Amino acid sequence: MKPTVFVAMGLGERYVEAMRERCDVEVYGGRTPISREELMGALRQADGVVGSAQLPYPREVLEAAPRLRVISNVGVGFDNVDLACATERGIVVTNTPGVLSDAVAELVFGLMVVMARRLRESEQAVRGGRWDATLRIPLGSDLAGKTLSIIGLGRIGREVAARAAAFKMRVVCYDARPELEPEAGVERLATLDEAMAAGDFVSLHVDLNPSTRHLIDEAALSHMRKGAFLINAARGPVVDQKALAAALSEQRIAGAALDVLEVEPPDAADPLLQLPNVYIVPHIGSATVETRAAMQELATGNLLACLAGEPCARIVNPEALSATQSTEGGP
Ligand code: DGY
Repeated sequence: MKPTVFVAMGLGERYVEAMRERCDVEVYGGRTPISREELMGALRQADGVVGSAQLPYPREVLEAAPRLRVISNVGVGFDNVDLACATERGIVVTNTPGVLSDAVAELVFGLMVVMARRLRESEQAVRGGRWDATLRIPLGSDLAGKTLSIIGLGRIGREVAARAAAFKMRVVCYDARPELEPEAGVERLATLDEAMAAGDFVSLHVDLNPSTRHLIDEAALSHMRKGAFLINAARGPVVDQKALAAALSEQRIAGAALDVLEVEPPDAADPLLQLPNVYIVPHIGSATVETRAAMQELATGNLLACLAGEPCARIVNPEALSATQSTEGGP
């Protein structure tokens, strides 16, 4: 019997077709994002699911999915899944690392330039019919000669560091994993506080897990320079958003550019939306034609390999495989 796969997002037809060759496929066609109830209904019969890395799979959802063996995330993050519960139930979770690192790093530089060169105010002036208003907007600042502090030296952090050299920036980094070696030209700092203090731009590249939730809290923010900008294209809950809003409104730091928020989409009353020194985009780090295609292709391959019991290098909880094996021979 073919395994049953639920596609919980808009996926390119060629990837759906590739799945149909080996699986019975149901594609979600309702309003996006899919509701928890709809997801639970669809997963009752599913052996595998493909969906965005923002689609939550808490315990309640996993426990309502008795046949589920594979969650294939279209994204590098996997904080959307209750990983302990998935592992315990023998459900493997896969992600799509590597193929989106360039796109996210490019966005980070876009955000830094927007902030440093005051592009929003300048563009708004032109649309408001005030070409000469640009002369009255305070001058921006160069990136060249400035220090970029990278928090988290994974694939994306390294891509950001590589681009900073072309922008003639000094690059420092902090990573809690002492075994990770920075590339030549990147200076490693011993503590988060030192890294927060060193940067004219501080860019976050850690994944979200219990040790990084609110890593950037009031105390961490207090180490930043008054003229510094915070960039977050990682995960919203890495930053204590209340503490950030206070630091920004009291102008203890110059500004923040955010691709991610603690609550997505934000509440209309979210104070960050009212602040002039914040620039927010809606989680678009990987949102390019080429990158999204590469992510979907990888996620499709991950799903098919795992359902077929073939090796897959992008399983984030390989212990789930032994959980399945140890129950297979059971009563
Ligand atoms: C990721 O890959 O995790 C991005 O945030 C897109 O979901």
